[in-house]
Amino acid sequence: MRTRFIIGNWKMNKTATEAVAFVRRLSEEVTALDGIQAGFAPPFTALHAAGEALGTASPFLLGAQNIYWEDKGAFTGEISGPMLKGLGCQFVLVGHSERRQYFGEQDSWTNKKVLAALRNGIQPILCVGETLQDRDTEQTDLVIQRQLRAGLAGIEGQTLATMTIAYEPVWAIGTGRAASPEQAVPVHRLIRQTLNELGGSSEAGRRVRILYGGSVTPQNIADFLASEEIDGALVGGACLDPVSFATLIKVASGSNPTKA
Ligand code: 13P
Repeated sequence: MRTRFIIGNWKMNKTATEAVAFVRRLSEEVTALDGIQAGFAPPFTALHAAGEALGTASPFLLGAQNIYWEDKGAFTGEISGPMLKGLGCQFVLVGHSERRQYFGEQDSWTNKKVLAALRNGIQPILCVGETLQDRDTEQTDLVIQRQLRAGLAGIEGQTLATMTIAYEPVWAIGTGRAASPEQAVPVHRLIRQTLNELGGSSEAGRRVRILYGGSVTPQNIADFLASEEIDGALVGGACLDPVSFATLIKVASGSNPTKA
């Protein structure tokens, strides 16, 4: 049984002060998580404030949106695993399509970042997804497999099985045009099959959590989670408002709106 996981990706939004207000409001809305994991990834500059506001008793996980693969040194502007660990980060997004699209992130970098996160005891969330052009030219499977094989190179059996993958079709991100579950589910199956091939057994495919991302809202989250292939969501726009994010979590945890 895989535990559902809902992650909010704040992208380049919210100052440290705004992050504190968000955490306070979210903590009023959701005081406990029942059979589900949830967390969010503020920008680096709000991690400390968000972590302090969460405190040690919060059920929410704190994560980062990116990591550099060296632990320290002359890499101006970069943030390393030990730095994130020191701020209380428990997970980190790797290879988000916006990093690939706007910052030239290569598959080989995502691999080094996944390895750096693992080395520092931070859960990497490897993001994969095809562009509209890839989909239109029937390259989706090839692109997803390439991103997985390259991003997970050198990661073996037990460790592979602890990974989390986020499938985010680029054309569905921030467009209000979510993939339909009928479009997403075959890709989730392909991801599991590829993980089994990489791991040499069915263990990875059975245990790895695969989240869907791309225009997820409190209104459509249940449709995705109705498939047992989809273990949660990576949410952008709809995670920025604490009430909307809390509603999404409540729907995902299957509880009524007064408790999550
Ligand atoms: P939206 O939910 O705004 O489409 O963003 C998805 C995303 O990129 C999360 O990482």
